[in-house]
Amino acid sequence: MAEGLTQLLILPGVLLCGLLFRTVTQHGATVEKLSKKPNFIIILADDIGWGDLDANQPEERTNNTPYLNLMALQGLRLTDFHSPASTCSPSRASILTGRYGLRNGVTHNFAVNSVAGLPLSEVTLPQLLQRAGYYTAMIGKWHLGHNGPYSPTNRGFDYYLGIPYSNDMGCTDIPGYNLPQCLPCGSSGPQVIRLKKSVHGGCYSKVGLPLIENRSIVEQPLDLWTLTDRYKTAALSIIKNASEQGQPYLLYIALAHMHVPLAPPRPQNDGVYAASLRELDSLVGAVKITSDNTDKDHTLIWFTGDNGPWEQKCQYAGSVGPFTGKWQTSKGGGSAKRTTWEGGHRVPTVAYWPGRIPANTTSSALLSGMDIFPTVLSLAGVTPPSDRRIDGIDATNILLHQETGREFLFHPNSGAAGKFGDLQTVRSVKHKAFYITGAAEACGGGTGQQQLHDPPLIFDLECDEAEETPLDVGTPEYQAVAERIARRREELLWDIATDKSVSTADYSTDESAAPCCDPGHAVCRCGTLD
Ligand SMILES: *[C@@H]1O[C@H](CO)[C@@H](O)[C@H](O)[C@H]1NC(C)=O
Ligand SMILES: *[C@@H]1O[C@H](CO)[C@@H](O)[C@H](O)[C@H]1NC(C)=O
Ligand SMILES: *[C@@H]1O[C@H](CO)[C@@H](O)[C@H](O)[C@H]1NC(C)=O
Repeated sequence: MAEGLTQLLILPGVLLCGLLFRTVTQHGATVEKLSKKPNFIIILADDIGWGDLDANQPEERTNNTPYLNLMALQGLRLTDFHSPASTCSPSRASILTGRYGLRNGVTHNFAVNSVAGLPLSEVTLPQLLQRAGYYTAMIGKWHLGHNGPYSPTNRGFDYYLGIPYSNDMGCTDIPGYNLPQCLPCGSSGPQVIRLKKSVHGGCYSKVGLPLIENRSIVEQPLDLWTLTDRYKTAALSIIKNASEQGQPYLLYIALAHMHVPLAPPRPQNDGVYAASLRELDSLVGAVKITSDNTDKDHTLIWFTGDNGPWEQKCQYAGSVGPFTGKWQTSKGGGSAKRTTWEGGHRVPTVAYWPGRIPANTTSSALLSGMDIFPTVLSLAGVTPPSDRRIDGIDATNILLHQETGREFLFHPNSGAAGKFGDLQTVRSVKHKAFYITGAAEACGGGTGQQQLHDPPLIFDLECDEAEETPLDVGTPEYQAVAERIARRREELLWDIATDKSVSTADYSTDESAAPCCDPGHAVCRCGTLD
């Protein structure tokens, strides 16, 4: 189906949503059900691979994600779902704004000492839901700016508990797998942040990872090994509290899993990564069970990932499944996180809503994390802002009625060599065109160069999911696809160039911007000075 047609069918999503409720509940007694707004639980895993979900690769016979498999069995598994970018900040910014980084301004990651974050001119999903009467809570990794007006509780969340950026962007006393321990004063290390000499007498050390609740640092350095439990306790209490209040809620859980450092409960024979994956899964399971026991019929749980596995972390990185990006890897260099190869952005995704999303269904509809924004708004009966252009599409009919997905999806560069935000790659139905290729660091250290392609490399993902052999430029198939994609790409680039609602992110840094519980202490330790 053409994208125009999809839009046409989906646009009156609010109306359609109301109608559906009516067909399910015909009598006056169920009027309350009609007007009840659904709850949304969005669970975003970090650096998870498409192949990490057992249900995506049953032939592997792993059993690391039983709860996610169950959610897929009772809901919908989306096999062609893509994170909006291949690194953390841009992906999260697009999920929360429904816009490409070229519009929302977030094209690469923020740092520990970033002064700003997601531009304040952007409107976020929780802001819109909050205004519509939702209780909005976030648990986990924010990574869209941690100072003052940029922090989660100033961008639409009523409640926040979590780490303001990645879990490897600060030390902990008991390190996880692949994490710098808090260094003794005076040491140097690979990721050392230089603190002010005047305050620390020339001491250089990595800022300890802070745990933030609402606007306060409650622990620093935080204990990685108890983080999962804290997140779980908070998530369950939010679900229970909100349903006791009878208030619809948005709960956005951005897990530390599967980003290094990993801190699984106990050493396992099959390795640290598998143990961490099982821990993630059991957290998802606890959320599902609690939601099932409170407001099952009114809660959509949407599980997805922020980008593909961080290949350079070797045994601590996830599985891309069959999406191995062979064209790139055969030249050296990684083809997962930070790249626009499939491994960089095709993420395991499950949508679960008992009674609304048909059980045990799989869809190969092409979708993006950007589509969460318009879809959730539509289901909540909230009109998206009209003063800006939204790139996400309302996927309500794809979730509920198995309709076909997007015709086009663009993949921005958010970590490989080249210009951040550039729309390197364009997907159109089963074809994918690379105008620019670039690699990330592979396990073992290999990297690849950025290469421009004119004419573009075009792969047929249906028969070449490993992106190994581009189509022959001389074939009619190539010509037709190249023309269609080039036209659409020109349209989008023009649309962005003439968009008056484009935001610019401030990526400036300053040492004083690093979150410090106690500026007098080398690792910003809370409570104690020894
Ligand atoms: C965070 O806000 C909630 C109310 O939303 C409150 O119950 C809790 O005590 C606050 N926590 C901190 C550390 O301020
Ligand atoms: C949930 O409610 C309990 C009891 O009222 C309270 O102690 C707790 O802080 C609340 N949790 C959150 C995350 O608001
Ligand atoms: C789920 O669907 C698959 C494939 O259509 C089918 O083989 C299986 O029996 C179904 N399972 C259940 C529990 O309905």
